[in-house]
Amino acid sequence: KDEILVTVGASEGLTMALLALTEPGDEILIPDPAYVAYPAAVRAAGGVPVFVPTYAKDDFKVTVEALEKLVTPKTKAMVIGYPNNPTGTVMTAEELAPIAEFVKKHDLVVMSDEIYCELIYDDAKFTSFAKLPDMRERTIVLNGFSKAYAMTGMRLGYICAPREGLAQILKLHQYMIMCANTQAQYGGVVALRDCKAETEAMRQEYDRRRKVIYKGLVDMGLPVFQPKGAFYIFPDITCTGMTSAQFCETLVKEEKVAVVPGSAFGEAGEGYVRISYAASMETIEEALKRMARFVAKYHK
Ligand SMILES: Cc1ncc(COP(=O)(O)O)c(C=O)c1O
Repeated sequence: KDEILVTVGASEGLTMALLALTEPGDEILIPDPAYVAYPAAVRAAGGVPVFVPTYAKDDFKVTVEALEKLVTPKTKAMVIGYPNNPTGTVMTAEELAPIAEFVKKHDLVVMSDEIYCELIYDDAKFTSFAKLPDMRERTIVLNGFSKAYAMTGMRLGYICAPREGLAQILKLHQYMIMCANTQAQYGGVVALRDCKAETEAMRQEYDRRRKVIYKGLVDMGLPVFQPKGAFYIFPDITCTGMTSAQFCETLVKEEKVAVVPGSAFGEAGEGYVRISYAASMETIEEALKRMARFVAKYHK
């Protein structure tokens, strides 16, 4: 019980963990592109986000090579989050093993955002960073009920961390938050105990949509890799000659389809857009039709 703290979503977990951990000027490594709250939370905690670029050629997997170029004596921690928002990338245990070695070598703490751990497709397997050799005592796991149980508005999540670290986080949590909403916690208990079948049905539906949207994007000529997790897909839109922001603005104006510029998730996201398939199949099919028309019009 002293290694788990129930929080107001993974968002609170991330913020509290960073506030507890970060001294002014500490550098925190963040793979780029990544969830928008990471650099914001690092800055709010007085730290300096250091973006580690990832590339489509590697399916946006972070590499030790890139990390080694950016680590300094000021580096305190690294944030990692697979399945990834915005790319849908999943890293295998074998691919994560050298990252764990890197973490040990440089004596870092890892904040592992595992909120999409249940939403995995094909032959991909989820690996918790805390399960890698010697990583349990260095990893703060962030998780929540927003994705696998679609309880986003209930604001419920949790942190798993080594006892001494969690004691520091608890000080912040108890004075700033007091406790996560109790009704939501009762809902969370039911979700964990009784809702495996519902989560699986939802995962299968996401999987169907993922396949439809992947094929739709390939058919319209956009380079894209098939995501293995979460509910996002991240096509390359550079063939239109537009920046990601221009693409999104023009698409929403001309076709009333909303997607998010990859550049919102970091510099390495420029040239891509994030599409969410947390929408009905009907909406996805209509959106694909409109996008295909749009891409055909601007394709260079
Ligand atoms: C990677 C990632 N982490 C955390 C969150 C926020 O989760 P919560 O609703 O539990 O605060 C999101 C929401 O989009 C997310 O994509």
